[in-house]
Amino acid sequence: MGKTSSSYILRAMEPADWPEVSDLIYLSTNTWYEINRGHPIFSGGPQVCELFCRVYHQLEPGCGIVAQHRKTGRIAGSCFFHPRETHVSLGIMNVHPNHFGEGIASALLKTIMDFAKRYQLPLRLVSSALNLDSFSLYTRHGFVPYALYQDLAIEVPRSGLNLKKLGLSTKRVREADLEDISAIGALEFEVSGISRERDYCYFIENDDGIWKTLVIDSQTKGEIDGFLVSVNDPAARLIGPGVSRDPDTAFELVVAHLDRFHGQTPVVLAPSDQPELITQLYQLGARNCELHVAQILGEKQPINGIVMPTFMPESG
Ligand SMILES: CC(C)(COP(=O)(O)OP(=O)(O)OC[C@H]1O[C@@H](n2cnc3c(N)ncnc32)[C@H](O)[C@@H]1OP(=O)(O)O)[C@@H](O)C(=O)NCCC(=O)NCCS
Repeated sequence: MGKTSSSYILRAMEPADWPEVSDLIYLSTNTWYEINRGHPIFSGGPQVCELFCRVYHQLEPGCGIVAQHRKTGRIAGSCFFHPRETHVSLGIMNVHPNHFGEGIASALLKTIMDFAKRYQLPLRLVSSALNLDSFSLYTRHGFVPYALYQDLAIEVPRSGLNLKKLGLSTKRVREADLEDISAIGALEFEVSGISRERDYCYFIENDDGIWKTLVIDSQTKGEIDGFLVSVNDPAARLIGPGVSRDPDTAFELVVAHLDRFHGQTPVVLAPSDQPELITQLYQLGARNCELHVAQILGEKQPINGIVMPTFMPESG
């Protein structure tokens, strides 16, 4: 891996770097949000952010990059990428607050852009729309925002949602198994033009016990109308990624996932151009807590349904 500005070397992240990278992710993200938005993102201590290193490593080893100071040996920047069949995704990008604005993120980004170019694949990511440093980093390098997502936080009572009282049903939902992988891949390709079978397999195998993957079968045998994943870990309580053919399917899958978050407040990224889904989520008491934009460098496929992305691991 190449060079960055004079003072830093860019190199592949090693498992030995994980504690330092976790510190960096925790400090960098929390500092930015505390200064600019008045609240941290992560709690529980820097070690919770090791989740990012672990998940990306498990999905595909060698897809983390760090910017290391030549003299001090300290890691001042980190980022992840993830090659899939149809595209490359870019995962969480962090720079140490002492080094914001020195071009470290741009150097990391360029390395990943070169990788995607070499494989002639589009590069996709989901970036905060409220964090102009992050938004600008990507648009400055030619990325094009194409979809807006509302981060909706849904408080789940300790006893869970009373579905009967709310007039809701999750009867169509079932847990996915490895036999669903090709149907999941086919649906995602049909809805959003991307596919990432290794990811679905990883979520369903769930070796760490933090993932859950739900599907709704279609009328046509062997096909599904929607799938949705969630992760429940101290660093990430997120519902997504997933796609559905229609808003009712998407909503039913979200409601079913809420059952694993009793007494917690998970977040789901819902597409802002899907008012039917957003309205149903508001009726559940969901509150906007962030905005994210999907950005792409390269050819974009049209969306034919509901896409609920995530940023852990980045789903583009
Ligand atoms: C977002 C973040 C990674 C940027 O890192 P950085 O090293 O300071 O960024 P860089 O110095 O490489 O600058 C980024 C680019 O955006 C440009 N830029 C920054 N603010 C801009 C603005 N408001 N308008 C236009 N361009 C802007 C810079 O000029 C630079 O472009 P250049 O390389 O062509 O000069 C860093 O602020 C950070 O770690 N934030 C906290 C964590 C976070 O929010 N991560 C991203 C979300 S996962």
